[in-house]
Amino acid sequence: MDNFEFHNPTRIIFGKGVESQVGDEVAKYSKKVLIHYGGGSAIKSGLIDRVRISLKAAGVDFVELGGVQPNPRVALVREGIELCRKESISFILAVGGGSVIDSAKAIGVGVPASHDVWDFYEYIVEPQKMLDVGVVLTIPAAGSESSSSSVVSNEEKQLKRGLSNEIMRPRFAFMNPELTFTLPPYQTACGAADIMAHIMERYFTNTKNVEFTDRLCEAGLKTIINNVPQVLENPNDYDARAEVMWTGCVAHNDLFNTGREGDWGSHSIEHEISALFDVAHGAGLAVIFPAWMKYVYKHDVARFSQFAERVWGLEMDHFNPEKTALAGIYRTEAFFRSIGLPVRLSEMDVPVESIPEMAKKCTGTGTTGNFIKLNTAAVTEIFNLAK
Ligand code: NZQ
Ligand code: ZN
Repeated sequence: MDNFEFHNPTRIIFGKGVESQVGDEVAKYSKKVLIHYGGGSAIKSGLIDRVRISLKAAGVDFVELGGVQPNPRVALVREGIELCRKESISFILAVGGGSVIDSAKAIGVGVPASHDVWDFYEYIVEPQKMLDVGVVLTIPAAGSESSSSSVVSNEEKQLKRGLSNEIMRPRFAFMNPELTFTLPPYQTACGAADIMAHIMERYFTNTKNVEFTDRLCEAGLKTIINNVPQVLENPNDYDARAEVMWTGCVAHNDLFNTGREGDWGSHSIEHEISALFDVAHGAGLAVIFPAWMKYVYKHDVARFSQFAERVWGLEMDHFNPEKTALAGIYRTEAFFRSIGLPVRLSEMDVPVESIPEMAKKCTGTGTTGNFIKLNTAAVTEIFNLAK
């Protein structure tokens, strides 16, 4: 096990109806806030109205900026920065999913900065300060509600880039599984694939002697595998929704990678797809992760066969562990397909002609991933396995 520090300061307020307390929680930080939200689901469900009422009751004044698109755009972030400066806002309340939260974090680091916010995402400058950000979560997926990351797209440059910094963890996250009842099945499935990918990025490691975190990862994966089909069958199943929501948060709050190195190659490859083709991040991962597994499994057959046995309950073939390892990979792919996700680039209308450009942008002159360091040729091969 590697040395590690673990500190996740995001306060989680979880359960039925909890969002009614949001005003009191926000009031601890500021009396004037920006409510940031997406394309309309939170208006339609009445959530934004309830948030407004709770803020007013707590004596908190607010301005609003909606319209965050999935794969959030830096153009709206810049608008949010101007608005916060003009209105002297010091707190942003993100009401939505990963895209809204990431946009809120981007605004939060952009407001105190004296240069364009995109410089942070190109790693030209490191952010030093972020306005306080709070969350009312509406979709379990990205884990941004307590992660240190924000992923933003730049349409002009056709780039999607992630920024990670410990200052970027939200102050609090209200998580009411009932708010996820309205999710379309496809979004539920995309969220499930993202949660599983966050766990698998951590599971496939070269770090030795990490039994506890291996088993935490396996528990997380099994919880998603057991509960997501139930949620798709009955969208109002509170208990199954709650399992998925809590797993999604812990999957990306850095507990599962304590003492071990994660991979993250599949994530960086997927970001090239969603940057160019604006697909849902989870759908892109359902395509890329199995292809990545097929490309790398020989590097550590024992780990992949352990995954097959413990996560999918497959019988270990001690004479031929490679067979078990491969069976686990195919089960993962079949699961994604069974919950309605694409597992090939062609199913997302991503043309093969774009593979060289995506592979080049992903690695530049270097490599991506840690389990195996992938250069441009390796990433191209993974895209080919995903065709
Ligand atoms: O925009 P609205 O109308 O709200 O609709 C959204 C959106 O269309 C809808 N939705 C959300 N909650 C709903 C709902 N519809 C009905 N009922 C609800 N309760 O779902 C759609 C997707 O929302 P989005 O926020 O984009 O989903 P997600 O949480 O999957 O976030 C994806 C983004 O997060 C980034 C991804 O790259 C992608 O840009 N990630 C962020 C990470 C982080 N910050 O730590 C890590 C992840 O690996 C990921 O890269
Ligand atoms: Zn992800």
